[in-house]
Order: sequence, then C-alpha cells, then structure tokens
Amino acid sequence: MTTTTQAVRSTGAFGTAHTRVEGRDKVTGAARYAGDFPFDELAHGWLVLSTVARGRIRTVQADPVLAMPGVLAVLHHENAPRVTTDYMSVVGPPDPALGLFQHDQVPYVGWPVALVLAETSEQAREAAEALVVDYDEEPHDIAFYAGHPDAYLPAGSPAGPAEVVKGDVEDALARSAVVVDEEYTTPEEHHSPLEPHAATARWEAGRLDVVDSNQSTVWVAGELAKLFSLDPAAVRVRSEHVGGGFGSKGVRPHQVAAAMAATLLQRPVRVVLTRRQMFSLVGYRSPTTQRVRLGADPDGRLRALDHQALSLTSTVHEFVEPSAAFGRPLYDADAHRTAFRVVRLDLPTPTFMRAPGEAPGSFALESALDELAEKCGLDPIALRVRNEPAVGPVSGLPFSSRNLLACFDEGARRFGWADRDPRPGVRRDGRWLLGTGMAAATFHVGIGPSTAAVTAEADGTYTVRINATDIGTGARTALTLVAAESLETEPARVRVHIGDSDLGAAMFAGGSMGTRSWAWAVMRAAADLREQLALGGDIPPDGITARSDTAEAVAALAKKERHSFGAQFAEVAVDVASGEVRVRRLLGIFAAGRIVNPLTARGQFVGGMIWGISMALHEEAVRDRASGAQVGPDLANYHFSANADVPAIEADWVDDPDPDDPVGIKGIGEIGVVGTAAAIANAVWHATGVRHRALPIRPDRVLTAGGSSSA
Ligand code: MOS
Repeated sequence: MTTTTQAVRSTGAFGTAHTRVEGRDKVTGAARYAGDFPFDELAHGWLVLSTVARGRIRTVQADPVLAMPGVLAVLHHENAPRVTTDYMSVVGPPDPALGLFQHDQVPYVGWPVALVLAETSEQAREAAEALVVDYDEEPHDIAFYAGHPDAYLPAGSPAGPAEVVKGDVEDALARSAVVVDEEYTTPEEHHSPLEPHAATARWEAGRLDVVDSNQSTVWVAGELAKLFSLDPAAVRVRSEHVGGGFGSKGVRPHQVAAAMAATLLQRPVRVVLTRRQMFSLVGYRSPTTQRVRLGADPDGRLRALDHQALSLTSTVHEFVEPSAAFGRPLYDADAHRTAFRVVRLDLPTPTFMRAPGEAPGSFALESALDELAEKCGLDPIALRVRNEPAVGPVSGLPFSSRNLLACFDEGARRFGWADRDPRPGVRRDGRWLLGTGMAAATFHVGIGPSTAAVTAEADGTYTVRINATDIGTGARTALTLVAAESLETEPARVRVHIGDSDLGAAMFAGGSMGTRSWAWAVMRAAADLREQLALGGDIPPDGITARSDTAEAVAALAKKERHSFGAQFAEVAVDVASGEVRVRRLLGIFAAGRIVNPLTARGQFVGGMIWGISMALHEEAVRDRASGAQVGPDLANYHFSANADVPAIEADWVDDPDPDDPVGIKGIGEIGVVGTAAAIANAVWHATGVRHRALPIRPDRVLTAGGSSSA
C-alpha cells in the first residue's frame, strides 16, 4: 500500500509508527484521569435530575436529606448563587443547562434540579437518590417525525447556511429520465465515551482551579469565568488525560456544579456523572429524517440533487445536526438543493457527536446514490465517478486537494470489487445471504488559531508547551513527532506539555481540527527556535524559548474547498430467518493529507468505522412518549458494537499531498464514521434485495422486510 512518502524526512519522526508517549503511564495506572486526583478535605457533589418532561418545580424537600449522614448542603433553585448566562462562548450562546438552579422551570427529563453535597461520594449519592422533588407537570411533546409543522430553517450553523440552492430542482427532476425519491431515518444516538465526565473544583491561591475531562481547557475556563463573573486569569482548568469525548466533553453542568459548590463550601468539590446521567446531561446526536431526491440521465449524470434533512433540538437551546451539508462538496448536479431544518421539542439539547451532519447525512445520500446506480444499471463506483466535480459544486471554489477517485481505485483493488456480480440476493453461504456495498466519505478540513512555545533546554532536550487536548486521538504523540521533525531531533528528546489553560490560547479538540491547528503553531515556533539556535552561543540555564501565534496566518489562508475524502467498502452476511446481519469485512481507504503517526491514525480510522457498524446495526436510543424519558439509559439497553460484532477491519490511505497547504495535515478523527453505515446498508441490499432506509438495521426490521428467496 502507498502510504504517504513525502512525510519521511531526516529524523523519520513524521510518518513513522510510534506508540503513545503516555502509553506506559496509562497502562500502569500512573496517568491520572479527572476523577482520580486526591485532594485533602474533598467533598462530593451528586446531581439530581428532573423526572418530568415539562413543568415547574414546586418543592425540593431538602430537610430530610440534610439530616442524612455526611450531607453538607443541598443546592437548588431557591438557594443557589446567581450565575451569568448572558454571554457568547466559542460555540455561540451558552447552553441554558449551565445556568444551574437559576429558576423553577423544567424543559425536559434529565434537567438538573439539585446538587447534594456530602463528605463521601456514597453519602452524596444515597442522599441524592432519596431527595424528593415535587413538580407541577405540564403537557409535553417529544414526537419527532418528517414534515413536522413546527420545523424551521435555522439562521445558520457551523456547517454553513441552512439552505443552499443552485438551479431549479423541480424543473431538473421533471427532465430526469431516472428519479430516486426516498425517505431515510436515523435514530437518537449517544457518545458514551469510556471515561465518564468528572470535574473537581477548588479555590487555590485566589484562583478557581478545576481538574476536568474536556476537549478544551480554554473553552471550559472561559465559560466558567463568565458564568461566575471572574477575571479570566483567575480560572485555571486542566485536562491532562481524557478517556474519549466525541463532542460531548465541552462545558457541562457538572463543572459548573463543582465550581459553585467549591465556592460555597470553600473546600474542593468533585462531581462525577454516572453513565445514566451522561445519557441526558452531555448531549447526543439528534434523530434525523431525510428526504433525498436524485434525478439523472440514463447514463447516471445527475441533473438534480435535493437533500432535505430534519433534526430536533430542545425548547431552550438550538443545536442543529447539519446532515444535508454532506453532499455540498461531493457531487455536482445541474440543480443542487440542500437544506437542514430543526424542530423544538421537550427533549434534552443535542450536540456535536463524531461527524455531526456527515454521519447521518452520508447514510441518506450514499444510500440514495446506491439506489440510483441500481436504477441506472450502473456500478455504484462508476456512478460516483461520473458525477465527480472539478470545483466545489455549489461554492465554485477550487479544492485544496481532492483524491476521492484514488480512494475508489485503491479500495476497489484491495476489496476485490471488480469481480462483483451486481445482482442482489443471489449469493449464499449456508443460511447466510451475502452482499457487498460501498459508499463515499468526506469531511471538512478546518483550522483554528493556536499559540505554542518551544524551548531548547540546556541539556539538549526540547520542551513544547501548547494547550492541546488529547481526547484519546494520540494528539500528544503526534505533536511530539511534529516537533521532533521540525527541530530535526529524535522524538525521545522532546517532551510536550498539554491540557492546561495556563498554557495559553489554542484550538479545541473538535471538528477533526485539533492536531492540524496545534501542529502548525508547533511547526512555526520550532522553525523560529531553530533560527535562533543557528545564531550559535550557549544555551542559558532556563533555555531559549520561541513562541508562535497562528491567528494571522490562519486568517490569511487561501479560501478553498478543503476536505478529506474516503471510500468505504463492506461485506455482510444476512440470515433472513433470524434477521441477523453480520459485517464480515470492512475496508476504508482515505485521502486525508499527511499522516503524522500511522499507528494512531489507523486507530482513528478504524475506531470511526466501528462506530459506523454500530450506527448501521445497533445504536438507537428509544424514548417513552408518555414520560419523555429514554428507555434503559445505560450500556445494557443501549446497544453498540462489541468485539464479536467487529470483523477484521482494514483502514489505509493514499497520498494526498497539497503543496499549497503549509500544514498538510487534514484531520482524521471523524471521517472514519462517514459513509460506513451506508456501505453496510448497501451491502444488505446486495445480499437480500431489500433496501433498509431506517437505522439501525435491527433483526426485526430484516424479518419484516424479508429478502430474496433465490438460492
Ligand atoms: Mo467532535 S463531534 O468535533 O468532538
């Protein structure tokens, strides 16, 4: 396989497999996670969440609980200190759930209504579970469905405008010889990172000091400063090791609760979320309904592409799952319309979850493409190649680099696609029907400003300081390799400090932008340092330090369509008697810029693809209409792919150089999940002759739909 060759230079750091620099600490338990740090006089807080979907709190019966062993206080809307929520954060207005205990209104099940503080975690939990809260309930509405009359076009989203139109879609559809017009749905899904959210707050030398597990310490510190009206310099947040985030580890009620309680008690306070609480307190992926209409000539050339998506948000905060944005850079068509709408319901606010928009959007559009290929009698890859654009289909901008076709070529070769019999439902292996499917993937490439400092120490080693966060991606190791390459030294001589707001401003770990953004700041500081060292002279005892700030450089980057691309291939076996679907093989080939560390990069791609299996076959949060609550919000009832569901997965990449890009790294954290579910659903069609347009493809859905009986 051709891996990136341009990357290997003198030291061999960049582009060479390297185990995690903190790996030994993690496997020996020396690495401390947010809930592990010991503190003297530590008190424990336990959040109490609403049990009704809409209404007002009538009473919080705190007295009986205050008499329980170890209980120190019960905070709720009648006694909590005031906080400020009238500000803008790095991702827009704050989630009102951060305004803890500021009023008596309950907008959804799982809204925080009280915090019980006690000497031990067990005492806090027992008291919290005993706390009686009375409500005046109001009728609620959680019904989410296509064509909801209250759906609206949001003002915008991080993914761009809610609606983008080129040409006349209705006219183009009317002129199309072949039309696909189908509805696709994806369910509510949850991140569930391995490490639960946990924060410990204390006042230390006049500063609020928070040990946390998050995707950006500056983001969390900035919001805490605003919420509590503190000088930003008076807040320090650390997040040294993070056991997964996937979009869920921004600012959440537990950090606010810990800070509020530490201020009140004047002692350190820890608040840890339970797995169950995470299902309502840290965001989730909205369910979607998506109508895709494709119109094409008999040879597959697209005349019309129309993708209309709907997601939900809460009544108190707007979060939009921008599913329809997926197709904007991907396929050209004479008429091109993509729009995402949202509806406000009495449910918790969704949030960013690995490939927000692209994950559900790719399921709909890449399934529809497969349906169009079938109708045109075309190979699914040939159909996509026919509609490959020269420039951004709706933006008109040039692509920084676009190597989707190379992904198709390499993937098809390695998967054995050329021998594929296109007919559905004709392959058997005992009781199993076999099929193969593919889908395209793309993910936007972004960058944010960061600062970095690189020090040449007197002993010949180097220290890098950058406020990056390693949420499990291997970012700490990647930055070690980037620094070693830039300094022309070995990785062993470089130590990297991350995860501390005192290190300064930096991009958050999100949008697959972290390593790209941080690496640039490190490269620039390292280059500056090498120039200083080239002047010669002794290194003083406290070293020589060079600093960088990429704000101006980021703003000056040429405006282009910057994306990674990929091709996903799946082979499935379907037992139409039991309804079971097994993924037998999965191959993903990506064009994702320079790959810093093949070992952890492969882990990111494969991890995303496993999410894709989970999304295709297992994950689905079910809600009870009558109560508004999720049924079984735990990892026993919320099914996801486990080891036995995961076959041998291969992920690899093609050269994806971009001479105009000073960084070259594109970001790899999310694209692995993009298109995977569609490839699997397309393979299920190929196996059975039945289209599954609703995820997950559960056994009961396979049984209801049946399949080809040809044998
Ligand atoms: Mo990601 S959903 O930007 O953490």
